[in-house]
Amino acid sequence: MKKILALVLALALVLSCASAMAAKVGVSMPTKDLQRWNQDGENMEKLLKEAGFEVSLQFASNDVQQQLAQVETMINDGCEVVVIAAIEGSSLGAALDLAGEKGVKVIAYDRLLMDNANVDYYATFDNFKVGVVQGTYVKEALDLDNAEGPFVVEFTAGDPGDNNAGFFFNGAMSVLKPYIDSGKIVVKSGQVAFEEVATPTWKTEVAQTRAETVLASYYADGSDIDAWVCSNDSTALGVTNALEANYTGKWPIITGQDCDIANTKNMIAGKQAMSVFKDTRTLAAQVVKMVGQILNGETVDVNDEETYNNNVKVVPSFLCEPVFASVDNYKELLIESGYYTEDQLQ
Ligand code: BGC
Repeated sequence: MKKILALVLALALVLSCASAMAAKVGVSMPTKDLQRWNQDGENMEKLLKEAGFEVSLQFASNDVQQQLAQVETMINDGCEVVVIAAIEGSSLGAALDLAGEKGVKVIAYDRLLMDNANVDYYATFDNFKVGVVQGTYVKEALDLDNAEGPFVVEFTAGDPGDNNAGFFFNGAMSVLKPYIDSGKIVVKSGQVAFEEVATPTWKTEVAQTRAETVLASYYADGSDIDAWVCSNDSTALGVTNALEANYTGKWPIITGQDCDIANTKNMIAGKQAMSVFKDTRTLAAQVVKMVGQILNGETVDVNDEETYNNNVKVVPSFLCEPVFASVDNYKELLIESGYYTEDQLQ
């Protein structure tokens, strides 16, 4: 009798594990255009599969309607958890409503999903800190507290449809605005409000076009720019392209974020001063852990329950640490850690 009971228990355990293991997870990424989302998507898929889950991974060509349809399909196809890096934080309401109706759990990946109660968790890097790292670099490189100045600085921010973009910009401004106010930093274009310096879609070409206009309007006389604070690498690339083609002054400090391959090469070549490394493997691993915890009914690992209000609720979040990167530490951060091979950066 005891043996039969043990057998039945063992069978029940195997079956319950098998059903938990076979759970289906949807992963919705914004686009294949930018290097980082390909890496994020691939990492997530790999780790989720290794953890025994079935995975539906989709990229949405930066098309909001396409992403909406993809997420709805994931939910209708039986995904129990969907992980979403939104193109535009506010435009997936219909899919989130559907998730709520069906009891599907939603994790916002890297970018917060806005204006809906059916966002269960958020996993990202500390976005404000990314901006602080950029601003602090500029402050120290120009020695703003001691040097006489004034220094000429321009700004390029991210996509207003991405909740992260404001955090990056505000983080950088939290360090640099006092120097703008005191006159130590001069922004010749006069463009210092987020809306004025934003880059819809985050695209390199969009950032480049605005930079070209700024250069033609304010720097055609050959005057110098000391720093151009760019929120991320795709926009930094646009600014770099514009400077290379249309600027004759001394080469400015350019900031970035993501350590994309093209930008890391530019750091090595001395064109981009720094970037912020956000190891997508860390974020993906954290999200896979959270998915497992949700599906196993365990307490989900979060470390911030204050910062990320999506206009309906404060979403419990896990914030990973962003890391300063430059030509001085890229080898250790990116190559020795196996993020890139040396060949990729040639
Ligand atoms: C991400 C950045 C990325 C940007 C453009 C942001 O939401 O946090 O890492 O550079 O989107 O894709």
